[in-house]
Amino acid sequence: MKIAIIGGGPAGLYAAILLKKQRPQAEITVHERNRADDTFGFGVVFSDATLDNFEKYDPPSYRRITQEFAYWDDIAVHFRGTVHRVGGNGFCGCSRRMLLLILQERARELGVTLLFETDIDDESRFTDADLVVLADGINSRFREKYVDHFQPEVDLRSNKFAWMGSTKPLDAFTFIFQETEWGPFIAHAYQYETGRSTWIFETDAETFAKAGLEGLHERQSADRMAEIFGWFLDGHPLLTNRSMWRNFPMIRSRRWVKGNMVLLGDAKATAHFSIGSGTKLAMEDAIALSDAMAQKYEHGRREEVEKTQHAADVSLVWFEHVDRFWDFDPVQFAFGVMTRAKAITYDNLTLRAPEFVREVDRAFAKQVRANGFDVDLDKPVPPMFQPLKLREMELKNRAVVSPMCMYSAKEGVPGDFHLVHYGSRAIGGAGLMLTEMTCVGRDARITPGCTGLWNDEQQAAWTRIVDFVHANSAAKIGLQLGHAGRKGATRLMWEGMDRPLEQGGWDTVSASPIPYFPDSQVPREMDRTAMDRVKAEFVAATERGNACGFDMLELHCAHGYLLASFISPLTNTRSDDYGGTLANRLRYPLEVFAATRAAWPAHKPMSVRISATDWVEGGIAGDDAVAIARAFGEAGVDLIDVSTGQTVRDAQPVYGRMFQTPFSEQVRNEARVATMCVGNITTSDQINTILAAGRADLVALGRPHLVDPSFTMRAAARYGADIACPPQYLPGKEQIFRNSVRDRQDFDDLKIKGKPKTRAELKAEATKPLAAE
Ligand SMILES: Cc1cc2nc3c(=O)[nH]c(=O)nc-3n(C[C@H](O)[C@H](O)[C@H](O)COP(=O)(O)OP(=O)(O)OC[C@H]3O[C@@H](n4cnc5c(N)ncnc54)[C@H](O)[C@@H]3O)c2cc1C
Ligand SMILES: Cc1cc2nc3c(=O)[nH]c(=O)nc-3n(C[C@H](O)[C@H](O)[C@H](O)COP(=O)(O)O)c2cc1C
Repeated sequence: MKIAIIGGGPAGLYAAILLKKQRPQAEITVHERNRADDTFGFGVVFSDATLDNFEKYDPPSYRRITQEFAYWDDIAVHFRGTVHRVGGNGFCGCSRRMLLLILQERARELGVTLLFETDIDDESRFTDADLVVLADGINSRFREKYVDHFQPEVDLRSNKFAWMGSTKPLDAFTFIFQETEWGPFIAHAYQYETGRSTWIFETDAETFAKAGLEGLHERQSADRMAEIFGWFLDGHPLLTNRSMWRNFPMIRSRRWVKGNMVLLGDAKATAHFSIGSGTKLAMEDAIALSDAMAQKYEHGRREEVEKTQHAADVSLVWFEHVDRFWDFDPVQFAFGVMTRAKAITYDNLTLRAPEFVREVDRAFAKQVRANGFDVDLDKPVPPMFQPLKLREMELKNRAVVSPMCMYSAKEGVPGDFHLVHYGSRAIGGAGLMLTEMTCVGRDARITPGCTGLWNDEQQAAWTRIVDFVHANSAAKIGLQLGHAGRKGATRLMWEGMDRPLEQGGWDTVSASPIPYFPDSQVPREMDRTAMDRVKAEFVAATERGNACGFDMLELHCAHGYLLASFISPLTNTRSDDYGGTLANRLRYPLEVFAATRAAWPAHKPMSVRISATDWVEGGIAGDDAVAIARAFGEAGVDLIDVSTGQTVRDAQPVYGRMFQTPFSEQVRNEARVATMCVGNITTSDQINTILAAGRADLVALGRPHLVDPSFTMRAAARYGADIACPPQYLPGKEQIFRNSVRDRQDFDDLKIKGKPKTRAELKAEATKPLAAE
């Protein structure tokens, strides 16, 4: 068997080693255009988990690599004169040059042929090869040559970055966030061998230009960085080696295999350096290739690569928008850095850096105290259980029951099911509960089962529910008011969501006459008379809502319903003052907001639910959501409930844990309004992580509350945070509190015991002097 490998980087060399081990008879040649020791870059970084993998696949190279390694456990975040250190991370660094020399030596030892200074411009010279590995790096000539087949997607990101080195010793993976007269600079730095550290500098394009870095030579720009970070470098120089500033390309290739050719490493897909994974992905690709060989390689490896890429993308976006957090309390900022890519959470940090999390809790509690609550600063409860005030409404905690249609009303009247449903969730401990979308008129309903608030009977039924909630729990209850628009006159959820009713329907209206499904009813475009009628219905329902005793009012401007249909350009094609620009499209929803706000008592808060993205090219996206939130903010909204999508049928949402939270983060920290986030949030750990990192002010859970009315009560027991409970249920509360604290302790102990020691810990133990007897 003949294998030709183009590119002698980590991907190409490690693939050569593993394939040769697997098929000793194979003739394997690596073709590298550079000289053997002619390598750019400084250190590379691997996690303990990656090293475990290397140990399994090739112990000799693993041993040589790890002998050369620098280990560290801590991540240090420097921000505005403070430093926060978080332990338990388990990372190692080594020199990229040394890594390549070790891999070259090992490849030679196994009988791989290494040809240096061999630039391959045409793979047809390998017609006799059974396998051609294209490991030719980020600017892969061969990926471009077969662009129609591999279909790479290259997203050149806006921030500028440059790799440099230094002799400065570091004992932690170090992030420095540095304010300058031109804007923020970020350094990602770590030591990779004695007396050598890698320094990646990053900044946004505007700061880059203002700092005069454009057009500077390598040395000059290193000098500029040394001036900015001089206070930390302690006189150590910055070293350069092809340290040009560039924009990071996020690369994803649709296909990785073409006939007997396989893309490997950076040639196939990149992962942002902020999670230190370029070399890891490259070497793990080689492992996957040797495991599966060409035909199964793409299939078996894609999920793992995409997972790492996703984490890297989330991390990259955090660094691109660091300005959103620039005025945060430093400890909250550091918590945001640590938790930016979802893998590290509040609970997880509590286990390994309890003092840091206590500081995070204290900083959070301090903000709450600044807002007028007499909370304990010494032993604060976790963020989820900190109170929040919106106008005069005080919430006991930050967990919210998201609005959820129950499709169980008769002629809009909520019945016994609703009383039990809302009643039990209120008793279950949520700080706030929102009603399902309650419709402002009979023809404003989504389905025949939707609740309404346009007549006395409905008002009486809602009053009974609100009274029950207030009498038996500490929860507040908000009324979500909406109009279905073009999604009206459709079937109950379990009979066909959004599908038109076969009989008993009613006429629908929308911003424009565009049906939802091709066979849905074509809605009538609203004229001024219809707009005035519906606005008056919203006002009348608002007044009734106040009479019921609701604590808060939420205007539903999301999910493609009537008000949302005005906001999205996908559903609004009007040519009058209510169509065209975003300002025009917002005009009617803002009119309805102003009218309801005027009818709603000044001491009670109002929120607006928005779809922060339509998940469709040309629809609403994150930046529009900021503008929308600002507009409602100026009109007096107290909270933006940040949801997404459901505007049009052919949307392509990207689901995942907490998948809508980045939109809440953007809206909150750019538009500077309080937000509630929602969407696939399922644990109290996630709620605390989101709140502590300043990504939202409230967290709503929909589906988890459907099966667990006592979600908040159980979380309170887990964290030992006090919570209201009706006297009838006190024995149950006492029991769960007793058991939960002990169960959690046992669980944490197990986790700590079960966690393998990091290499840094092992090394520290091995070098510790023996205690005198
Ligand atoms: C300037 C720079 C500095 C970096 N520094 C670091 C760092 O300090 N730490 C870190 O972890 N990551 C660093 N990276 C990222 C890291 O190098 C990559 O993620 C990782 O090396 C990917 O491995 P690879 O084998 O896929 O590609 P590469 O390491 O890029 O290897 C590709 C190889 O193919 C060779 N080649 C390309 N075309 C041809 C051809 N036609 N014929 C023959 N040979 C060819 C190239 O010379 C190169 O040696 C750096 C990247 C850049 C651009
Ligand atoms: C059965 C059901 C009914 C819903 N009804 C509403 C509604 O009336 N108003 C609304 O704004 N969102 C509604 N939603 C969306 C939820 O409020 C929430 O945003 C969504 O379920 C995502 O959160 P989750 O992952 O916690 O469930 C509904 C969701 C479900 C599952």
